[in-house]
Amino acid sequence: MVTALVTGPTSGLGRQFAIQLAAAGVDLILVARDETRLVELDLELSTSYGITCEVIPTDLSNRAALKAIENRVADVSRPVDWVVNNAGFGLAEPFLNTDVEDEQRLLDVLVTAPLRLTHAALPGMVERGFGRVIVVSSFASWVTSGTYSAAKAWATVFVEGLAAELADTGVHATALCPGFVRTEFHDRADMDVAKIPKQLWLDPADVVAKAIKDCEKGNVLSVPGKQYQAMAPMVRLSPRALVRRVTALGTVDPNTP
Ligand SMILES: NC(=O)c1ccc[n+]([C@@H]2O[C@H](COP(=O)([O-])OP(=O)(O)OC[C@H]3O[C@@H](n4cnc5c(N)ncnc54)[C@H](OP(=O)(O)O)[C@@H]3O)[C@@H](O)[C@H]2O)c1
Repeated sequence: MVTALVTGPTSGLGRQFAIQLAAAGVDLILVARDETRLVELDLELSTSYGITCEVIPTDLSNRAALKAIENRVADVSRPVDWVVNNAGFGLAEPFLNTDVEDEQRLLDVLVTAPLRLTHAALPGMVERGFGRVIVVSSFASWVTSGTYSAAKAWATVFVEGLAAELADTGVHATALCPGFVRTEFHDRADMDVAKIPKQLWLDPADVVAKAIKDCEKGNVLSVPGKQYQAMAPMVRLSPRALVRRVTALGTVDPNTP
């Protein structure tokens, strides 16, 4: 039996990862803060797909709580084959206006949690010669939208380095770099996305299906949507001074994706 840990499965992309992995017959470890939604998801997926879920209500910004998840992932007697580092959130305010504790939580959830969970999972995966690690990064990792971009840049480069280390081990690592996806992300952060053209919005089910396929194939980066696949090389190859200027102008929305 294959088992996957999914962080942040109570809505959006994480919920889709849980659904699509369950539909493939994968048992799940579900980690987020909202226990009611976790229990509902467990019931829905175990009934629909006959899989088993472990529900572990956790605030990933709490280091002691994170340690308990690390211990679960590192337990070789109950192997975890997929680690989907998905949980995340954004801050709508510019750095000068944010509360530093919110900035710290952002770093804890977007950087520290994926780092520590992946570190805990990899030895067992390499030993078994099989593993799949997905880190949900963002198209924002290639622009300069404040600390969110900085954290996602870490995620993308982290996976790129890791993938090289994992060559020929049977373990694949993929950074998912989507643009705007219709989830609860923007509402939760109170971001105004009314002016984002509808052509830029991606469907979470499509994004996740591509990410799973890319990870299975061993693709290091997963960029969903033809519009973003066209934009990615331009942004990635542009001089950084231009990227900074365009981001600051808000042509690339400063809040996200
Ligand atoms: N939506 C976009 O446009 C977009 C684009 C690029 C990348 N992303 C990335 O995609 C990932 C998923 O976001 P989403 O768009 O699906 O947003 P979402 O619908 O708001 O889901 C976020 C998930 O993260 C969990 N989470 C947040 N803080 C947490 C914490 N401290 N501890 C544990 N779980 C926590 C939430 O669960 P609880 O509230 O139950 O804890 C929820 O399940 C994030 O990493 C985000 O940065 C999103």
